[in-house]
Amino acid sequence: MSFARSAFSFAQRRTFSVSARQNSKVTVLGAAGGIGQPLSLLLKLNKRVTDLALYDIRGAPGVAADISHVNSNSTVAGYKPDDAEGLATALKGAEIVLIPAGVPRKPGMTRDDLFNTNASIVRDLAKAAAEHAPNANILIISNPVNSTVPITAEVFKSKGVYNPKRLFGVTTLDIVRASRFISQLKSTDPANEEVTVVGGHSGVTIVPILSQSNHPDIAGEARDKLVNRIQFGGDEVVKAKDGAGSATLSMAFAGARMADSLLRAAQGENVVECTFVESPLYKDQGIDFFSSKVTLGPEGVKEIHPVGAVNEYEQGLLDACLKDLSKNIAKGKTFVAENP
Ligand code: NAD
Ligand code: LMR
Repeated sequence: MSFARSAFSFAQRRTFSVSARQNSKVTVLGAAGGIGQPLSLLLKLNKRVTDLALYDIRGAPGVAADISHVNSNSTVAGYKPDDAEGLATALKGAEIVLIPAGVPRKPGMTRDDLFNTNASIVRDLAKAAAEHAPNANILIISNPVNSTVPITAEVFKSKGVYNPKRLFGVTTLDIVRASRFISQLKSTDPANEEVTVVGGHSGVTIVPILSQSNHPDIAGEARDKLVNRIQFGGDEVVKAKDGAGSATLSMAFAGARMADSLLRAAQGENVVECTFVESPLYKDQGIDFFSSKVTLGPEGVKEIHPVGAVNEYEQGLLDACLKDLSKNIAKGKTFVAENP
C-alpha cells in the first residue's frame, strides 16, 4: 500500500508481496482506542508486517480476535495488563512500537492540557519499551507530542538504552492534511502535492513551508487561511466530534503510513518523511527536538535535512514555533526528572 499516494493500486500490491521477506513484528500500545483500532486494521493489511501485537489496558484481545479474521498472513495477538507478562510479550522482538495510548482532547482544550494525564501513561509505556524492546523504532502518537517524545527519550536514557535514531514523534498527519488542504484550494490531486511541514505538533509549532511546495504563489489572505488551517486542522476535527474525541481515522492512516515508511526503509528503500526527532538543527538555541525532512534507513534516522530556504513570513512562523517548542520540550524533560 502506498500511503504517499492514496490509491491502493494493483502494481503496489505486487511490490508489497515481493518485498515482504523479512519478519517484522509491529506492536501497538493503546490498540483498542479510537486511533488504535483502525491503525491496527491498516497494519494488518500491510504485507510487510508479519506479526501484530495489540496491547491496551482494556479491550485488546477482542480487537485482536476481530482483526485476526482479515485474510492477510500476519499473526495477530491481543494482550491485557492482567496477562502474565502481557505487555512484555507484546513488546518482545518488535521492530516498530506505535504508541497512541492516552486521552484525546475535548473542545476548548489545547494538546498541552492533556499533559497531566498522558505524561505518566507515556512514561510508563516507555519504561516497558526500554526494557523489552530497546532496539525498536518507537513512534509516539500520544499528545502532546512535543513533550511526550522528550519524555520517552529521558526514560530510555535513564535505562541506558537511548538511541536517538529510533525515536520518532509522529507528525505525519500534518503532512497529510497539508497536501489535502492545498489540493482543495488549488483543485489538484493531493497525491501530487507535497508540503514540507516542520517544527512540532501543536498550533503555532506546526510550520508549513508553502514556498517549497508546488504553489509558492499562494499569498495574502489565502496563504494566511491555509497556514492557519494546517496549524489548527486538529481543532477542526475536535470541534466537529463535539466532545467525542479528536482525529482517529485520518491519524490511523497517517500512523500506518509512517510505520510503512520505516518498514520500507528497513528493507533498503530510501524514504523521506517529516518527523519529530532529536535534531541538531536548533540545538544551538537549546532546542533538542525538531521535525524536518528525515531520510529513513535500516538504522532508523539516516539523515536529518535542514529546513532549507524560507521567506520572511515563514521565518516569522519559525520564530514563534521555536519559542513554544522550547517550553514544551523542557516540560517533558522536567516531568521525568521530577517523576522518574
Ligand atoms: P482513545 O481514548 O480513543 O484511545 C486511547 C486508548 O489508550 C484507549 O483504548 C485506552 O484504554 C488506552 N490506554 C490508556 N492508558 C493506557 C495504558 N497505560 N496502556 C495502554 N493503553 C492505554 O484516544 P485516541 O483518539 O485514540 O487518541 C489517543 C492519543 O493520540 C491522544 O493523546 C490524542 O491526542 C493523540 N493523537 C495524536 C495525533 C498525532 O498527530 N500525533 C493525532 C490524533 C490523536
Ligand atoms: C490532531 O492533530 O488531530 C491531533 O493532534 C489530535 C488533536 O488533539 O488535535
